[in-house]
Amino acid sequence: MLRGEANEELSRVGKGTPMGELFRRFWLPALLTSEVEAPDGPPVRLRILGEDLVAFRDSSGRVGLVSAYCSHRLAPLFFGRNEDGGIRCVYHGWKFDAEGRCLETPNVPAGAPDIRDRVGITAYPVREAGGVVWAYLGPKEHEPRFPGLEYAHVPPGHAFAARWLQRTNWSQGLEGEIDSSHISWLHRDFDRDTTKQKVTGAQLSADAAPHIELRQTDYGLVYGARRDHEGQYLWRVTQLILPMFSLIPRGPGAFAAGGGRAWVPVDDNCTTVFTFGYRVDHPIDEDELASYYRSGALFPPRTQPGRYQLPDGYVIDTWLPVANKENDYLIDREMQRTANFTGIWGVHDQDRALAENSRGIGGTSPGVADRSFEHLVSSDRAVVTVRRILLNLADALRKGVEPAIVADPELFAVRAISKLSPLAAFDAFMAEYGHEMRASGARAPVPAE
Ligand code: FES
Ligand SMILES: [Fe+2]
Repeated sequence: MLRGEANEELSRVGKGTPMGELFRRFWLPALLTSEVEAPDGPPVRLRILGEDLVAFRDSSGRVGLVSAYCSHRLAPLFFGRNEDGGIRCVYHGWKFDAEGRCLETPNVPAGAPDIRDRVGITAYPVREAGGVVWAYLGPKEHEPRFPGLEYAHVPPGHAFAARWLQRTNWSQGLEGEIDSSHISWLHRDFDRDTTKQKVTGAQLSADAAPHIELRQTDYGLVYGARRDHEGQYLWRVTQLILPMFSLIPRGPGAFAAGGGRAWVPVDDNCTTVFTFGYRVDHPIDEDELASYYRSGALFPPRTQPGRYQLPDGYVIDTWLPVANKENDYLIDREMQRTANFTGIWGVHDQDRALAENSRGIGGTSPGVADRSFEHLVSSDRAVVTVRRILLNLADALRKGVEPAIVADPELFAVRAISKLSPLAAFDAFMAEYGHEMRASGARAPVPAE
């Protein structure tokens, strides 16, 4: 249970809020590179951490992430013309470059004072890595080096990424990620061969009550789930990297491929979910993509690119899940009786159906969960631990202590692994295999400044 103030503190991400400031110390995924592929192509509307933004690629190939509104009379730059090295407001023609500088104010009469220096708009630094445009929304003096997340550093063609909208607060998404006791229920298939839903983590359903071990680390949290398997143990080790990146193991064996998710707040009520997959040994081809699809947990749900009007009226360009709140996630009661636990197709849709309809503050279903009504049990230990870590970090930052992780990109360079092993104790397992959880030797250069 998390009462009023702590619940709000965990959830709210606007400028000046404790968690909002903590998020503003990290590089965050903002949108897919493919959405702003073409120089001078159409701008994309975003909201990140409650800030209304527009992304565009200028004539030289540089991506700009700037305020959604023109500084003259606050017109929307989404309708602007992306041309000749900047985005031009179509109301009166003012033009801004990727760094938010005002280049032209054509409706200012000749001879009048030049105001361009005073009317620049907010612009945030960006990097492109792993098929994603990343942004840093925090104070300039605290801009960290780019994080060493492995999927953001493999060579081109070795990674894929996708994103979609989840209509809950970001923390509900993250908590689903580390709530391993739901996997054997929510994502259960009754019969892997006959189910329509071949993509879920069915192999995990066999042992519905894995033994879970949890350790806090200098980058977040590592947890191991141990299941009995033919006289040995199947260990699946998942990583949680601050503030909301997860790494999820694939099948047992030597590490060649991995992936994870990131929960980027749109605002307090919505989240952009990113999923990443990557290989370190060779580029991802069609077969590999198909195998990600079969593994289910990382592959995106069925989505369509489109626009979504947030409750306060601002429109974002995003990827909209085909199964959604309006159609009850296409629940099929016959499938629920015969094939899987939910009657909903796909891991992410199952997760979203539950998260987007949980009890929120004020008794509403979307948005921020009202955790004062919860009754947590011992299997919720990871959820409790992550809340505590994040609240402590936010509290420390409020007192002037910067989060240590952002100072060291290498701390982000970990892997999630899965192993068959005779070792029953997690500490012994970590001592034996911990070195395999360090990502190294597969590094492409850090994206250019
Ligand atoms: S409002 Fe943009 S140029 Fe006037
Ligand atoms: Fe799930």
